Amino acid sequence: MKLSRKDILGIKELSVEEITLILDTADSFLEVSTREIKKVPTLRGKSVINLFYEASTRTRTSFEIAAKRLSADTINISASTSSVVKGETLIDTAKNIEAMNPDLIVIRHSAAGAPHMLASLLRQSIINAGDGAHEHPTQALLDMMTIRSRKGRIAGLKAAIIGDITHSRVARSNIHGLTKMGAHVVVSGPATMLPRDIETLGVVPCVRIEEAIKDADIIMMLRIQTEREKQNVFPSLREYAQYFSLNPKNIVLARKDCIVMHPGPMNRGVEISPEIADGSHSVILDQVTNGVAVRMALLYLLTGGNS
Ligand code: CP
Repeated sequence: MKLSRKDILGIKELSVEEITLILDTADSFLEVSTREIKKVPTLRGKSVINLFYEASTRTRTSFEIAAKRLSADTINISASTSSVVKGETLIDTAKNIEAMNPDLIVIRHSAAGAPHMLASLLRQSIINAGDGAHEHPTQALLDMMTIRSRKGRIAGLKAAIIGDITHSRVARSNIHGLTKMGAHVVVSGPATMLPRDIETLGVVPCVRIEEAIKDADIIMMLRIQTEREKQNVFPSLREYAQYFSLNPKNIVLARKDCIVMHPGPMNRGVEISPEIADGSHSVILDQVTNGVAVRMALLYLLTGGNS
């Protein structure tokens, strides 16, 4: 099967078949990163621009590593060291990048919909590396890859997503992906961090974390997004940790073989205790490893692989 789309903007618009194709392709690329020479010639002659208007460690580095392992040329542009600081608009920046004729542009931006605007204006393929509080599709894909590799399936599993659901693009993309793939998704967090109409996305809201993680196969903890909060939505970090952290006391409610996920960066001692972050249930670093393979798969499929 071929991925018949120009861009990857969100999980919402992907079909189950497309998600499965991306995950299968990522599985096949995982092995490249274990070789002594971690490089294949698949995308030789192609160029990928990473255009990041927001900070990133994992996403940007893994897109760069993914492109390099496929032999593509990569160019990184940070808003803070580009002509954006001189007042150049996103559209002008993008049009100038287009004029240099790259094959693919990866963009992270604080404004929801920024990747969609570029996709409609530019002939290059666009990958959304996170747009505001909207979507982070490659994170959800690497999360689904991690779940599949640890559990052998996604359908029928109980996934609990805990924390700042309102401001989390990771939560939104995972809710779209996990429900599409047949998981039973519950969410929990302070009432100020749960969108009122969250049930319309096919998930069950829980007031208490204990209810959400009970018998869960997957626990996905979210970072508190202080940079996106316009006002204080909980009294203190100490109080947040008291009611909504995952810790050795409450994890016993989940299934014995549950996996604990976090997209990073973590606030250790706030949403997750260090014992859990580094403990036997944690697959947090597997997520990072799988992120390279997922991004290799997307670069490959969007530049005509499998055609
Ligand atoms: N998970 C994630 O998006 O991490 P970064 O912000 O470091 O890219």
